[in-house]
Amino acid sequence: MDTARISIQDQEVDCPVTVGTEDEVAFDISKLRNTTGAITLDPGYANTGSCESGITFIDGEKGILRYRGYSIEDLAEHSSFLDVAYLLIYGELPTRDELDAFNLEITRHSLLHEDMKKFFEGYPASAPPMSVLSTIVSSLSAYYPSGNSDEEVNLNIIRLIAKLNTIAAFSYKKSIGQPYIYPRNDLSYAADFLHMMFAVPSEEYEVNDLIVRTLDMLLILHADHEQNCSTSTVRMVGSSGADLFSSISAGIGALSGPLHGGANTEVINMLEMIRQDGSNFQKYVAKAKDKNDPFRLMGFGHRVYKNFDPRARVIKKTADEVLGQLGIDDPLLDLAKQLERIALEDDYFRERGLYPNVDFYSGILYRAMGIPTNMFTVMFALGRLPGWIAQWVEMKNDPKTRINRPRQVYTGYNHREYIQIGRRANQN
Ligand code: CMC
Repeated sequence: MDTARISIQDQEVDCPVTVGTEDEVAFDISKLRNTTGAITLDPGYANTGSCESGITFIDGEKGILRYRGYSIEDLAEHSSFLDVAYLLIYGELPTRDELDAFNLEITRHSLLHEDMKKFFEGYPASAPPMSVLSTIVSSLSAYYPSGNSDEEVNLNIIRLIAKLNTIAAFSYKKSIGQPYIYPRNDLSYAADFLHMMFAVPSEEYEVNDLIVRTLDMLLILHADHEQNCSTSTVRMVGSSGADLFSSISAGIGALSGPLHGGANTEVINMLEMIRQDGSNFQKYVAKAKDKNDPFRLMGFGHRVYKNFDPRARVIKKTADEVLGQLGIDDPLLDLAKQLERIALEDDYFRERGLYPNVDFYSGILYRAMGIPTNMFTVMFALGRLPGWIAQWVEMKNDPKTRINRPRQVYTGYNHREYIQIGRRANQN
């Protein structure tokens, strides 16, 4: 199969077929409009490949997720977050020396320019941490110029990974009115984040190893997910030649929405609501099925996974283990499990392939680690950062990249005669 033929009215066009390394088939319609005048229409891009990519592979039917060929289960069990970040961005798992050097560079760039603290001070305490994260990342362009050489780009990549940890923790300290805690060079990435979040100047803060390992694993599970909404946003913004910080800032904005990364916060809100309503699961399952009711089961369903989300499986198992080891009995964990069971017994969810996604159990783990609900989506952003960066670099270096500029089918008025103000109907 070399070409796919499209006929439209009396015209035909042969579209070259591309087959990926996992036998995914696509046909290239880039000549379609020039040849036939027609375009394709695909709201939500559910059938549209926007690029070729060698970073992440997902098989939604089989529940497979791999970064650069390595299964997510193996990486979650054996790797550290910076190991995985290196893999995503540079294409191979690092050697011990490479990882040490990468770690050292990240550590050395974790401080924010002191002037940037003034930005945090300008926000109201009620500012959503995701807005703060997005705008501070955007303003990094003003401090760290965007050179175009590989070396300059790489330096900004290191800066961004290092500083996002600090920015995220500062945004939390700002929201609770506590002094900022500066990064510590002797701690790992995840441990340093927890220290900057929870330490206070008047007390010694002990980082809990189990919580560090759990956070590291959660960041790995979120690290990339091919052409999702925020990653596509990063690529789209970057396709115009915009710099790394501006592109990632836009991605953070896309991630904040409740249908994307914001779902982890919504899941906890939903579980609390169900609990306060007497754990009436049937009522909420019925609401989710009712097309006249905007309510959806948050943390359920996925554009690509139609069988199970491998990330959700790992997180559910870890939630059981970690809550057990920390001696935490969170009623929301039982509630979530019951809701999952009842929904999955229902034909509506089974027929549509709606299963718990990564966000369904992650909030319960974050709660157990002491992370407040308004920071959940920030945690997602921290984890997703290496994926955004890897995809941005791939986009930038791909000779096939053109500015992203979809077409539309216009459905508005045809040409109308202009009538001057005062002569228009219904005006006095
Ligand atoms: N509860 C009830 N019905 C649902 C749900 C849900 N959570 N998700 C999808 N459906 C129904 C939907 O109404 C539609 O039904 P019908 O065919 O009768 O019209 C069908 O399932 C297909 O849904 P869709 O909205 O066309 O699917 P999509 O691929 O456009 O949207 C989704 C995917 C994740 C936005 C959606 O499933 C959803 O809104 N889920 C809840 C929000 C959520 O958990 N988001 C996090 C996604 S995973 C993390 C990430 O990568 O961001």
